[in-house]
Amino acid sequence: MIQRPAASRPAFFGHSVSGDRAIYSFDRPCVKFSAVDPQKPPPKRIAVIAGDGIGQEVIPQALKVIRSSGADVEISEFDWGADRYLRDEMTVPPDGFAMLGRDFDAVFAGAFGDPRVKTNIHAKEILLGMRFKMDLYANVRPVRLLDAALCPLKGVEPKDVDFVVIRENTEGVYTDAGGVFKQGTPDEIAIQEDINTRKGVERIIRYAFEYCEEHPRLDGSPRGRVLMVDKSNAMTHAGGLWQRVFEEVSGEHPRITAQHMYVDAVCMQMVRDPRPFDVIVTNNMFGDIITDIAAGLQGGLGMAASGNIHPGKTSMFEPVHGSAPPIAGKDLANPCGAILTAAMMLAHLGFTREAGRIDAAVLEAVRQKKTTQDIGGTLGTREAGEWVAEIVSRH
Ligand code: NAD
Ligand code: IPM
Ligand code: MN
Repeated sequence: MIQRPAASRPAFFGHSVSGDRAIYSFDRPCVKFSAVDPQKPPPKRIAVIAGDGIGQEVIPQALKVIRSSGADVEISEFDWGADRYLRDEMTVPPDGFAMLGRDFDAVFAGAFGDPRVKTNIHAKEILLGMRFKMDLYANVRPVRLLDAALCPLKGVEPKDVDFVVIRENTEGVYTDAGGVFKQGTPDEIAIQEDINTRKGVERIIRYAFEYCEEHPRLDGSPRGRVLMVDKSNAMTHAGGLWQRVFEEVSGEHPRITAQHMYVDAVCMQMVRDPRPFDVIVTNNMFGDIITDIAAGLQGGLGMAASGNIHPGKTSMFEPVHGSAPPIAGKDLANPCGAILTAAMMLAHLGFTREAGRIDAAVLEAVRQKKTTQDIGGTLGTREAGEWVAEIVSRH
C-alpha cells in the first residue's frame, strides 16, 4: 500500500518559496500568498522532493541557481524520502500523485535510496510511483560532453557526444508483475515479467521520432537518426513487437533514418566511439543501463540530467544519479547534474532564456574547473552551486 499517513501528522509537509523569500514554512499543507497582477502570467509552480543522500545536497544548489536565473516560479518542498518513511512509514501521502498533477506545473526530484531501508520500498513507491502513476512515459536523458577533459575516451570532443536516450518509463521489467513461489525452499521460483504493450511501445517510439524532428543538435544542425535498441535476437516476443512497431512508425517519418542495434553491441559502441549516436529509443531496463554508460562519457553520474515526461501533463525532472550513500553529507557531490536538470525543467516550462543561461554557466564552471573533485575541481557541493548561481545572476 502506498499511502500511510500517520494519524497524528498532516498528510504532507509543504515549504513554499517564491524568489528568495520563504513565504511559508509550517508543518501543514502549503498556503500561497502573492500579489495579483492581471498583466503577468502566474508563476510556474514547482514541487520539489529532494529525497535522500546527496539529493539533499544537490537540489538546494539547483534551487539557488533557479532563483538566480529570475525565472518566475513558486517552489513548494516536500519531505518524502527515507527519513520521513523511517519516522512514520509514509512514502507518498493520500492523493499525493493526484496532488502533484493537479497543483503543480512540474516536479523536481533529487534521489531516493537509503541503506537503512533495505527493501528500497520508499524509493520504489515515490520515484517509480511518480513515473508510473503520473504516466510519465518518456524518460528523456540527454548525453552531452561539455569539455573534452571530462570524457574518459581519448580524442573525443564535445561535438562528438551530443545524443539523447529516450527510455520507455512505464513498462518493461519495472512493472513489478511476477512473484516468488516456494520462497526459502530449494524449489524457489522467482518470476519478473517483462511487460510490453502495443500502446506503450508505440507511444515511446513515436515520441523518439518527434523528438528527433523537433530538437536540433547543440551546434544547431538538425538531428536525423533514430536508433532502436533491443535484444530481439533473444527476447523474441517483446523484441518482435518493438521491431514491428518501429518499422511502422519509421515509415511515417521518411526523412529520418531508422536504425537498429542490439543492446550488447550498443554498450560496446558507446565506449569505443559514441560519434554515431543521435536519438536512441529503448525499453525501460536497457535505457537505465545504457544511460549510466552514457553518463560515463559526460564525466560521470554527477553530470547527467533527465526528464520524465508526458506531453501536456505535469512532468518530473531528476538527475540521473542516485543518493550515493558513501559520499552523502560530505559536501562532495557534484551539483551539475541537478543544475542541468533544473535547466531542462525550466526550458520545458517555457523559460528557454533562463535555461540557456544556466547551461552556459555550467559550461563555464567546467571550463574554469570551478567544480567538485569528481570532475577535476576543488570546490565543495555548496561552493560549486554558488559559483554557477553567481554567474547566472550576472547575465
Ligand atoms: P549512485 O548514482 O548513487 O552512485 C554511483 C556512483 O556515482 C558512486 O560512486 C557515487 O559516488 C557516484 N556519484 C553519483 N552521483 C554523484 C554526484 N552527483 N557527484 C559525484 N559522484 C556521484 O548509484 P548507486 O550507488 O548504484 O545507488 C545508490 C542508491 O541510489 C541506491 O539506493 C539506488 O537504488 C539509488 N538510486 C536512485 C536513483 C534515483 O533516485 N533516481 C538513481 C540511481 C540509484
Ligand atoms: C534511475 C535509477 C532507477 C531506475 C532506480 C533507482 C529504480 O537507476 O533513475 O536510473 O532503475 O530507473
Ligand atoms: Mn539508473
